[in-house]
Amino acid sequence: MLETVASKSRESVGENQIRGCEVRLDQIRKQYTQGKEQLVALNNVSLKVKAGEFLAVMGASGSGKSTLLNLVAGLDKPSQGDIFLNGQSISSWKDNQLTLFRRREIGFIFQLFNLIPTLSAEENAALPLLMAGQPRSAWKPQVNAWLKQVGLENRRNHYPAELSGGQMQRIAIIRALIHKPSLILADEPTGDLDSKTGEKMLFKLKEITEDLGVTVIMVTHDPMVAAYGHALITMKDGRILDSAAR
Ligand SMILES: Nc1ncnc2c1ncn2[C@@H]1O[C@H](COP(=O)(O)OP(=O)(O)OP(=O)(O)O)[C@@H](O)[C@H]1O
Ligand SMILES: [Mg+2]
Repeated sequence: MLETVASKSRESVGENQIRGCEVRLDQIRKQYTQGKEQLVALNNVSLKVKAGEFLAVMGASGSGKSTLLNLVAGLDKPSQGDIFLNGQSISSWKDNQLTLFRRREIGFIFQLFNLIPTLSAEENAALPLLMAGQPRSAWKPQVNAWLKQVGLENRRNHYPAELSGGQMQRIAIIRALIHKPSLILADEPTGDLDSKTGEKMLFKLKEITEDLGVTVIMVTHDPMVAAYGHALITMKDGRILDSAAR
């Protein structure tokens, strides 16, 4: 089934064709139990993101934005409701199917980057290709071209501890795009960048994802950043407060 979903989104690759992943959330509830307390992080959230659409997600700290991305990526499971990727319920997938789908089809830019400390900048950027078993000689030219584009060619052998926050963030963005996924999930992808670098990276992200027809769900606190989206939702206390198409 996984193969069908993955190949469905790959089939349509081609000029002017959408290869993005359609995402649908159906009445999602996510609650955490802390002692006797029940904390509701997402409360009855329904949402559809069309293939190739760029959705911006805003909302106060603690409103459930990262929880929503984690559930879509299958990194966590909803307490109630279902999530559909390309029309298929991911709750019916086995863990290894989900892992494989995530590895091939999802590019995740985490709020805290999650770079691997023992890998160099270029190895971190190439991680999805490394994990797919590609030899260094196959990925190195492509990764170096990317590093150059984001002004980090002279940092390729640095380890994450030797990089600034903004530099780590740029590596994390390359890592999310390098394997040409069909869905990008980005949690504050420009939070640590100065406005000029942030704008450059966003422009690049939008250009690449529009070219390939990739679906993007991007969390941000910055209305200027949210303006890059085709659509915007605002969250409050685990619910979608407002949604707007652009
Ligand atoms: N593992 C967990 N256990 C218990 N509560 C959690 C857990 N993860 C998140 N929460 C709670 O769920 C709510 C939503 O968290 P979430 O991380 O989704 O917020 P957010 O909108 O991403 O906030 P921020 O803008 O600060 O990143 C918060 O109140 C948080 O404390
Ligand atoms: Mg968050």
